[in-house]
Parts: sequence; structure tokens; C-alpha cells
Amino acid sequence: MKKAAIVGFGAVAPNHAAGILKSENVVLSAICDCDFEKAVKATEIYGGQAFSDYDEMLESGIDTVHICTPHYLHFEMAEKAVKKGIEVILEKPVTMLKEEFEKLLPYKDKISVMFQNRRNNSVAALKEILETEDLGQLKEVEAKLLWHRDKSYYDSADWRGKFATEGGGVLINQAIHTLDLCIYIGGKAKSVTARVENRTLKNVIEVEDTIDAELTFENGAKASFYATNGNETNEPIYIKYVFEKATFEYLDNALYRDGVRITHDDSATFGKDYWGTGHEKVIKEYYEKDKKISIDNTENTMKAVFAMYESAKQGKEVLL
Ligand SMILES: NC(=O)c1ccc[n+]([C@@H]2O[C@H](COP(=O)([O-])OP(=O)(O)OC[C@H]3O[C@@H](n4cnc5c(N)ncnc54)[C@H](O)[C@@H]3O)[C@@H](O)[C@H]2O)c1
Repeated sequence: MKKAAIVGFGAVAPNHAAGILKSENVVLSAICDCDFEKAVKATEIYGGQAFSDYDEMLESGIDTVHICTPHYLHFEMAEKAVKKGIEVILEKPVTMLKEEFEKLLPYKDKISVMFQNRRNNSVAALKEILETEDLGQLKEVEAKLLWHRDKSYYDSADWRGKFATEGGGVLINQAIHTLDLCIYIGGKAKSVTARVENRTLKNVIEVEDTIDAELTFENGAKASFYATNGNETNEPIYIKYVFEKATFEYLDNALYRDGVRITHDDSATFGKDYWGTGHEKVIKEYYEKDKKISIDNTENTMKAVFAMYESAKQGKEVLL
């Protein structure tokens, strides 16, 4: 029986706690938040011992820590845990900086990442088709995320909307899942060109609220990518994958093949709709099947994120 712990008990952590409680072979043994009251309240609901100090919790005999803290703490907290032999399930983004990501890569057997949208029914179905059928070459990908984030969202926690603590805006936080799905299905990108801008949240955040970008995959296929937090509503994400022999659209949380709906995602019972239902699936796979989305499996996506910011800074195409 593994002993699991969670650090950072804010918005997303309840998805981790619920996933742990629903999994076999694991017990939730500790919850840590620098706001001790939050940790205590969480342990009253989910069980385990409450901590306010991360280092102390790491000494309490745990096997795996779920890191659900703000972006700027991911690298430091993950590195501390793995150096003590404790495994990590890390919320996205893996790290804020490319150098930090590279320092964690050697711990690929110990660090897995919460890219839970890979486990949405539509995405899993498309991945299986890709692995079992000959679809011909990928020709083109188009991806769009139109979400709404306003002042109240950014005021809800100090770290949001700032370069030093969030590391970027819509790309590294919200649209990272959409980019991951472009790459998870489309393959590795060899170059990117990106423009980032703060269009509608100028007096609210330092970081970008909008990105538009082009990616070139290793086989030469192109992707066009657009994401904004400046929309009036939260729309379901849209991704179109054009292969030589079939076209797939991820639309309204369902998968269409050549215009025919072939499967749809489960509706979220926990957290926000657009987070999907993958948290529980990823956590169950980890504890029950020893199956992981290991950090090296996220390298192509994370390197594309860093390259997009670099491209926006340099104003030109960047090779990965
Ligand atoms: N996978 C997803 O779909 C998804 C969805 C939402 C958030 N996230 C990610 O989860 C992480 C947390 O996001 P959130 O929205 O829950 O943030 P949040 O601000 O709601 O929660 C963060 C928590 O961490 C605590 N914390 C901060 N510093 C700490 C420290 N030194 N020690 C212990 N606790 C500390 C805070 O008190 C807070 O309770 C982010 O990386 C975010 O990108 C992922």
C-alpha cells in the first residue's frame, strides 16, 4: 500500500484527493498547505495528517507527493522530493523554465505529469485509431481555445498573472493542454513561430492573454494555434487533425471522423468542465497499473511552450 501526500490545497487539489480515495493500493496519508487552516480542513474531509511545512511532510514516510502548488514552486518541490527517493505527480506546467525542465528530466522514472486531457475519451479513441489504422501522413492541425478569465480570477491568488510566479499567461497555464493534444497526436514539432499579446486584460495581468502561433511538425505538416483568455465565455476547445485518409475534429467535447460523431467525453463530475475527467483516470492508472505520463513523455510539449515564448521574444521562427 503506497502512502500518498498532496502539497498545495487550492482549486485543483480536490481532484487529486478524490482520485487517490478512488484508487486501490494507496492511502492518502498527508496534506500540506502553507495556509495550515486549508490543510486541516482538507484532512477533515479526505483524511491524513495536516502539515504547513513541505520539508516536514517529506520526512513523514510518504511514497508519492502530488504537487498542486503555483508554477514557480514546481521545480523546487519536485527536485526536493525525488532527491529523497519520493515519487512525484506534478501538476502542469512541469516547470516555468527550460533549464529547470532539463534538470528534472533525468528523474523520468520518478516524475509523472498531470496532462489529464490525454485520457479524455475522444483523445484516447483518436490515439488508438492512430496506432491501429493507416491514416496516411498528417497534413495539417488547427487548434483554438477561447476562454474567459477576468479580474476576479486573477485576484483569487497572488501568483496568477505575473511573470515571476506564473511564468507566462494563457499558453503556459490554460492552453498548454491544447498544445499537448496537438503534439500528442501530431508528433514532435521541429519549429515554431509565435506572437503573444495582452489584448483585453492589460490593466489586470502582466502576462499574455492571447497567443497565435504556427508549428511545423517533423514530417513537414503545419499547425495553426490560437488561444485567448479574453473571450466572453468558456468555449469547448476545438482541434482539427487532417490526415491523408481521414479528418478528425475535436469539437464540443466529442470526436468527429469525416463529419461523423464517433465518441464523446464523459461530463465532468468534479471541478471545472474544461478540466475534463482525466485526473481520476491518470491517478488510478498510476496506483493500480503503474502506468505513468512520465516527464520525458511531456518533453515535446514543454519544449514547444518554451520555444513559443522564445519566438515571441525574438520575433522570428525558433527551431526546437
Ligand atoms: N490539470 C489541470 O487541468 C489543472 C487545473 C487547474 C490548476 N492546475 C495547476 O495546479 C496548480 C495549482 O493551481 P490552483 O488553481 O489549484 O492554485 P491555487 O492558488 O488555487 O492553489 C495553490 C495552493 O498552494 C498553496 N501553497 C502556495 N505556496 C505553498 C507552499 N510553499 N507550501 C504549501 N502550499 C503552498 C496555496 O496556499 C494554495 O492553497 C497550478 O500549477 C495550476 O496550473 C491544473
